[in-house]
Amino acid sequence: MLAIATLKLNELLAHFGYILSILMFMFGIMMMGRVKTAKNGNRLAALAMLLAVVAQLVQMGTINPLWIVIGLVIGGLIGAVASIKVQMTQMPEMVALFNGSGGLASALVAIAAYAYGGIPSQPLNRALIGGASGDVNGLAVMLSILIGCVTFTGSVIAFLKLSEKMSGKPILLPARHVINIVLGLVAIGCTVMGVWFIGGIGGTTMLVLVSLIALVLGITLVIPIGGGDMPVVISLLNSYSGIAAAMAGFALNSQVLIVSGSLVGAAGLILTMIMCKAMNRSLANVMFGGFGATDSGAGGGKSEYKNVKSADAETAAMLMADAQTMVVVPGYGMAVAQAQHAIRELAKILEARGCAVRYAIHPVAGRMPGHMNVLLAEANVPYEQLFEMDQINDDFKNTDVVLVIGANDTVNPAAKTDKTSPLYGMPVLNVEDAKAVFTIKRSLGSGFAGVKNELFECPNNYMVYGDARKVVEEIIKALKEG
Ligand code: TAP
Repeated sequence: MLAIATLKLNELLAHFGYILSILMFMFGIMMMGRVKTAKNGNRLAALAMLLAVVAQLVQMGTINPLWIVIGLVIGGLIGAVASIKVQMTQMPEMVALFNGSGGLASALVAIAAYAYGGIPSQPLNRALIGGASGDVNGLAVMLSILIGCVTFTGSVIAFLKLSEKMSGKPILLPARHVINIVLGLVAIGCTVMGVWFIGGIGGTTMLVLVSLIALVLGITLVIPIGGGDMPVVISLLNSYSGIAAAMAGFALNSQVLIVSGSLVGAAGLILTMIMCKAMNRSLANVMFGGFGATDSGAGGGKSEYKNVKSADAETAAMLMADAQTMVVVPGYGMAVAQAQHAIRELAKILEARGCAVRYAIHPVAGRMPGHMNVLLAEANVPYEQLFEMDQINDDFKNTDVVLVIGANDTVNPAAKTDKTSPLYGMPVLNVEDAKAVFTIKRSLGSGFAGVKNELFECPNNYMVYGDARKVVEEIIKALKEG
């Protein structure tokens, strides 16, 4: 009570704003966990961010907020333009840039906290560290710089790989593990010395060294990772950017930054682990395995197939016309072909004929978390028709027709039976259990894992060759004419 009484009104309001924004962040993230509430969760979290900035302005009180308002307007404008212009398929690279910006911002804030930390009379210092002692948490400053700089350059490389501005192939430097270990150890050593000498010339030298080494480390850690694994890397870098922000929060004594940074750090790490589990690969394998360096691991592998049946769009339409139940299994190819709207139209036609249509979503279908959900939501597919793998996997045996559209690895039965397959152990959709399967893709080419798909040789599977959207449009035409 006494503590509250001694707070000035602006500080009281600011603390209230911080607590509210922390709660909003938490609920926002919770809501993002469900397709139905994800959009509103995102809005709530964005609002929480705005509230946190406003609360900061209120707390700063006497300080001219002009620069912050200018930053808010410029940042907001860039975000607004990007959200309108960036295509859904470019989302992963945009998230990479966001993470990089977050890491850089945390590192810069920590540097500013360090630079102003020893000068208590500076108003900015009072605002930044929330007190007049001039004490800055040295460990938090150095860790924020270390992690923030790794996140920045790592994210820039991830962006360049995903946007194909540089090759997505892993760049495997000789002795890369040794280089990374040495850089990591030197960076940690400089961090410890920086904390020891903080405030003096030695501390400043170490701060510069840590920044430079961390910037290089971000590059050397990410270039050996293949473009296909970038979503996992981005999720991990997202976690790093959260940890860097939390450290900056300790440096500034800002609770809202500590909590929101920790939330991002934990959420990013959980998502990373979910993705690794769904791909049946360890995080170490993703980070250091050089996956995709050879053609067989990069989706370019050639395989021999025997007794593959094929069908044309008209035949597929004929069978679908009589189906009572159909499950659509989308994959990366649907995103490439932008076939989601055509699929929705096909589903409506079949539903009008009395067929129950559902969608089976594999956790790592496509190339980013929630990739299929986002595309299907864009085409107004009702949420109730989307089923996660565990919910629908036992139902395939009771399904008349399965339409596999641009999916490959996620429907490969070899993952269940072939111990030599790189996919072995990855949970897959049991599409081969259905009465008939139509697999739409352009060729017998492999998917991301670069392996043969045993589904294509199953007696109840029919390949329908062609671009996913064109084939679905042909099926629709045949149904309308038939
Ligand atoms: P994939 O196994 O990658 O197969 C996609 C298939 O789409 C390809 O075989 C390709 O065959 C086909 N395709 C491409 N363009 C097409 C078009 N225009 N029309 C029709 N088909 C087209 O896809 P998936 O089943 O979605 O599996 C995802 C893979 O990515 C998994 O191995 C997963 O581990 C990996 N991965 C996912 C994530 C996340 S978070 N989703 C992250 C990292 C890695 P054709 O060339 O013959 O047409």
